[in-house]
Amino acid sequence: MKFNCLTLIILFFLNSGFVAALTKLSIIPEPAKIIPASGTFRFTKTTTLIVPENLLFRAKQLKNYLEPALGIDLQLNLKPGKENVIELKLDKSLKSLGTEGYHLEILSNKICLMAFDEKGIFWGIQTIRQLLPPEILRGAIVTGVSWDIPCVTIEDNPRFKWRGLMLDCSRTFISKEQIKRYLEVMSFLKMNVLHMHLTDDQGWRLEIRKYPELTSICSKFHESFKEPNEYQGFYSQDDIREIIGFAAQRNIEIVPEIEMPGHSSEIFAAFPQLSCKGDTAKIHPFFKGAGVHNEIFCAGNEDTFRFIENILDEVSALFPSEYVHIGGDEAPKKHWKECPKCQKRISDQGLKDENELQSWFVKRIEKYLNSKGKKLIGWDEITEGGLSHSATVMYWRGWVKDVPEKVAELGNEMIMTPTSNCYFDYPYDNISTEKVYSFNPVPEGFGAEQSKKVVGVQANFWSHIDRTQPQIDRQLFPRLSALAEIAWSDNNKKDWTGFKARMEFKKKSLDILGISYFIEK
Ligand code: ACM
Ligand code: ZN
Repeated sequence: MKFNCLTLIILFFLNSGFVAALTKLSIIPEPAKIIPASGTFRFTKTTTLIVPENLLFRAKQLKNYLEPALGIDLQLNLKPGKENVIELKLDKSLKSLGTEGYHLEILSNKICLMAFDEKGIFWGIQTIRQLLPPEILRGAIVTGVSWDIPCVTIEDNPRFKWRGLMLDCSRTFISKEQIKRYLEVMSFLKMNVLHMHLTDDQGWRLEIRKYPELTSICSKFHESFKEPNEYQGFYSQDDIREIIGFAAQRNIEIVPEIEMPGHSSEIFAAFPQLSCKGDTAKIHPFFKGAGVHNEIFCAGNEDTFRFIENILDEVSALFPSEYVHIGGDEAPKKHWKECPKCQKRISDQGLKDENELQSWFVKRIEKYLNSKGKKLIGWDEITEGGLSHSATVMYWRGWVKDVPEKVAELGNEMIMTPTSNCYFDYPYDNISTEKVYSFNPVPEGFGAEQSKKVVGVQANFWSHIDRTQPQIDRQLFPRLSALAEIAWSDNNKKDWTGFKARMEFKKKSLDILGISYFIEK
């Protein structure tokens, strides 16, 4: 057998454990700086966590993550130690890394995790989990594995402050347990926003105490469609508090979306008097009726605003998030054109047309939300007919090319979720993991000032096609890992081949977590 020079070099690296070392440093999202060193830290029965009082919660989280698989009771100690210790500390000198950044040093006798803020400590803990063998994710004792972490220094912080996933809980109800599963994986990937699309034509999914009909009537598909029970229903306010608490422990904010003025026909199943036509809707599964309904809140009726404001009172009190998403997409203007009350509103307010009426509607709601201490987000249609100075725009209509430029020019913040790369209900034939990975949330040609207006990126999953848990898992993974990386890591570190190798290695983690994923050819 003859070897050429290249083959010999490849064989050398394979033999030298070079590949093994690479996969052991497989972290998704890729950290900002990684400096590998020689040696390993090994967890043993005497490994101790050194932690100050103000990080006890994070230290207990770390214990809970590691102990089931290690089968070791990791001791907590408030006093410093030198050998076989993991030290967590807050360090004000790390301010330049921001509240989510962290500095992690793994030496053979000590792990030191430092951050400016405890949020950063949590993300550093996720890196420690990712550096251990994937079996660490098992919920029961694992034998025959050496719990080694390669020595390395990592300094890390995120590119974007909004690293999101939207789950459509309306087209198909997504149970509290399933939401928690996704929150768990999101935190493993350092994602920090779960946007819950709680209302739409297919059902209202949030308990509102003032309007029990929203859940007793509007959360159910019409019985004639014989939809399975698990596809409908709602979250009680206690469920939501539980989800918010679970998410907050994992650095994740829950952002609620309450759709208006369109995508609201489910409401008219119980409150027809709030629509322009006054007709009662029959709530249907997505493919058994209109995709986009002409039914719309009547913008000329003051009762509409009293109703929405009462709902927003409860939503604002329930969700600690600084944002409330009000939808605003795909609001057909047909009924507004035909409605005497809406036409009177247009003339009373000196508005030009129905687009300006939508803008007036959104601005009025924004004022109300601001009075409750909340900021408004809307889909990018809220830019039509005039955008308020403070609204945040979620850009989804990838085919309307000038929206990001316009929004940046107006000085508003935006979150990028275009159909071209971020719609995870689309098949992999249209949006492959590579296509997700190739997306740069900052549009080409944006200068420094414009770029600052892009505050993040998000995957949107609409639940009208894939509806069961394994189906939803496969639509999300592995694409969500790619999105997590473009949301966290610098664009100039992008490396598809490297990501693919790390992702292959991480599939074992998904297997252990019980998450299904799509296998691409
Ligand atoms: C959307 O996809 N209608 C926001
Ligand atoms: Zn009307």
